[in-house]
Order: sequence, then C-alpha cells, then structure tokens
Amino acid sequence: MSVRIAPSILSADFARLADAIAHIEAGGADLVHVDVMDGHFVPNITIGPPVVAALKRVTKLPLDVHLMITDPDRYLEAFVQAGASMLTVHAEVLPHLHRTLTQIRSLGVKAGVAINPSTPVSAISDVTAQMDHLLVMSVNPGFGGQTFIPHSLAKITAARELLAANGSQAVIEVDGGVDCENAKSIIRAGASILVAGASIFGTGDATEATRALRRAAGAAA
Ligand code: DX5
Ligand code: ZN
Repeated sequence: MSVRIAPSILSADFARLADAIAHIEAGGADLVHVDVMDGHFVPNITIGPPVVAALKRVTKLPLDVHLMITDPDRYLEAFVQAGASMLTVHAEVLPHLHRTLTQIRSLGVKAGVAINPSTPVSAISDVTAQMDHLLVMSVNPGFGGQTFIPHSLAKITAARELLAANGSQAVIEVDGGVDCENAKSIIRAGASILVAGASIFGTGDATEATRALRRAAGAAA
C-alpha cells in the first residue's frame, strides 16, 4: 500500500503559510493537513474557512481538513466551498455520524472519522461503509509537538482488523507525534497516511524533513 505524507501546517509559521506549503511541496508531500480548532472541543483556536480558501489558492495538493470542533455539521459546506478535499470529523461530538458522513460525501469530498486516544475503535464499526478514512489520534488533540502515545500502535492494528472484517476500503491516517523514529512501526501496524507537524516544521528545513519522513515510511514497505 502506498504511503501518503500529510504535513500539518499547525506547526508552520502562520505569517508565511504559502512558503511553508512551497517547502513541503518541494519535499514531495502528498496532502496538506489543516487543523481546525474551535476552543470548545479542544482548548486551542486556529483557523477557519477563509484561511482554507487562501491555502487553496497557493497549492494543488489536496487539503486534508481535520475538524476539531463541536458542531462540524454547521460548517461542512463552508469548508468544501473553501477547497477541502478531505473532511474529517470527530466521533466524540456526533450522535448522527452516519448522517454526517453521508452529507460529507454528498458534497463531493472524502469523508473521514477521527477518534481520540480514549475512544475505542468500535465507535466506527457501524459506519465503515460511509467512510473513506479513519484518523487515529495518537495524542490528545489540541496542540502540535506532543509525544506519540505508544498504545496507538495496538489501536491502529485493531482498526485495520475491524475495517478488513467489515470489508471496508477506508484507509488509516495517524495524527500526533509522528516522526522518522516511529513511522515504520505505524506503517507496519496498518496506517497509510502519516500526519506530521513538529517533525516537519520544527526542523528548520521542511523540505528535507518531508523527504526524510517518506524515506522512513518507505523503509517499512
Ligand atoms: C493535534 C493535531 C495534529 C498536530 C500534529 O491536535 O490534530 O494534526 O498538528 O502535530 P505533531 O505532529 O506536532 O504532533
Ligand atoms: Zn490533525
């Protein structure tokens, strides 16, 4: 399975987002991971549809928009209009996950569910047919630069097994504390999209860090 690298611009210089994207494009990034936070579901507040629209103007890479907000249903259309190619919503805030995922797909973009470290994989077992990707949070969402929670590896394996048992084609994305050291074990556990913020933008050379992460992930193949 081919691995996709999705640098998270949360750790980039917000005054120079176009430059940040140019650097990861030069390094061969596959997606741009955009962390949307509302100060309710998570303690932090980041960006909204106007910034996503601005990003869309400076890149052809698909925008992978991770909604860490309490009421994603209200904003799905706005993020699709802004240019999102993938929308990921959190299972913890959605009592009608099936409806939300169906709505995302009807807007013409990929639909994904994110689960927090304390949320069991079983939370998605009845919506796998409506999902294009499962985002396994390997830190508690809200901030970049946190340490990968080791139990996440077992969770990725459990997710892979659940998706296979349900005959789902959904891919597994892993987000939080991903770096060149743990990339291999994350891929071997069953993930195929690696999100990385601090390990890409915290290095001073995002282009080389993107290449390095791909090499590390490739070593698992
Ligand atoms: C955390 C965000 C992540 C974050 C990852 O709430 O969802 O996407 O940017 O950053 P690192 O790779 O620094 O943990
Ligand atoms: Zn994220």
